[in-house]
Amino acid sequence: MLGNSFGRIFRVTTCGESYGKGKGSGLAVIVDGVPPGLRISREVIQTELDKRRPGLGKFNSPRKETDQCEIFAGIGQDGVTTGAPLGIIVYNVDTKKIHIEQYRQYKDVFRPGHATYSFFLKYGEAQDWCGAGRASGRETVGRVAGGAVAKFILAREGIEILAYTKECLGIRARDMSWDEIKKNYRKNEINCPDLETAKKMEESVAEIKAEGDTAGGIIEAIVHNVPPGLGEPVFDKLSATIAHAVCSIGAVKGIEFGAGFRVGSMKGSENNDQPYMTKDGKVRFRTNNAGGLLGGISNGEDIVVRIAIKPTPTISIEQTSINMKKMREEKLKPITRRDPTLVGRIYAVVEAMIAIAVLDSLYMARAYDSLANLDEKWLRLKGRL
Ligand SMILES: Cc1cc2nc3c(=O)[nH]c(=O)nc-3n(C[C@H](O)[C@H](O)[C@H](O)COP(=O)(O)O)c2cc1C
Repeated sequence: MLGNSFGRIFRVTTCGESYGKGKGSGLAVIVDGVPPGLRISREVIQTELDKRRPGLGKFNSPRKETDQCEIFAGIGQDGVTTGAPLGIIVYNVDTKKIHIEQYRQYKDVFRPGHATYSFFLKYGEAQDWCGAGRASGRETVGRVAGGAVAKFILAREGIEILAYTKECLGIRARDMSWDEIKKNYRKNEINCPDLETAKKMEESVAEIKAEGDTAGGIIEAIVHNVPPGLGEPVFDKLSATIAHAVCSIGAVKGIEFGAGFRVGSMKGSENNDQPYMTKDGKVRFRTNNAGGLLGGISNGEDIVVRIAIKPTPTISIEQTSINMKKMREEKLKPITRRDPTLVGRIYAVVEAMIAIAVLDSLYMARAYDSLANLDEKWLRLKGRL
């Protein structure tokens, strides 16, 4: 299997699956590019992992994973990072025989909407049929642990990232300021900061859950206080790097920046964000249809990204499928263990992947700037002086 790393200078490599064979099975991440001298505790990483942990509420899969992490490499005797790669592992604890047998029973019958069919085509019968292996939502544990490290480093630069549920089952949160979103962040299970709309979303999800069905939604992520100048102009635009990071998450089916797909019905005079000068000599924009990106390079405004999340493919409703061993149609019985919607957990993965993409782009920009030797005026505009 190829493609288990992401990032050019700040780089994460993940491995592991939910039902790896033998004692000590788990999910791990190796993080390259961590500066020396950081006092990063396991609690910092655990806080992020707890956001995506299953089994915590009515909209979560009944899987009982504690997802406790251990840092096994990269911290020296003084308790600070040494500059060596950071290694973090989370052991699986909820790998019961009964669940393995359930997967074994249907191992040749693929789950519609899941990755099992394409995995059959690519890896044949050797594919990891137990819990979907690298296509499982649990694969994202390593991403969130790596993302926690990226967030920690970004916080030192004053850069913050928040993601929340903007829409679920067609019910949309009102537009809100960064401060209001931050104030109401994670105040309810569906993680929608528009508290009234959150209740409606939760009621609708409860209804479709009772029918054995699942719901899709839209996550909005905001990167706040981003310095201008991140992103390289051609193939490594910051928008392209973020899209790569986010579209690598399972169940992501669409991405838009700023005004996004709405630009198709806008006039140029409506879409162009009008600039103004601040009293302290900075350039700002009155609107943010560009979503903080011009030419794929950050312009100093908040980066605003919306991501479409498909309904959880596993459903408690009988479906038709194919038995890939016998090559014949078969009925797939309802499956009980799954989230009725992914939006209440996947936002943590979205934050992690965007953090990694932004930090990696910050490293790239700093590397280039230091050699380009930009004059004082441009460095001041970028907040570097
Ligand atoms: C955090 C997370 C949790 C997920 N949990 C489940 C789940 O419980 N059941 C399920 O069928 N799919 C789940 N998925 C979605 C599947 O992993 C994904 O839909 C599948 O791999 C197919 O990939 P695709 O949707 O990108 O085509 C989850 C995804 C993420 C990111």
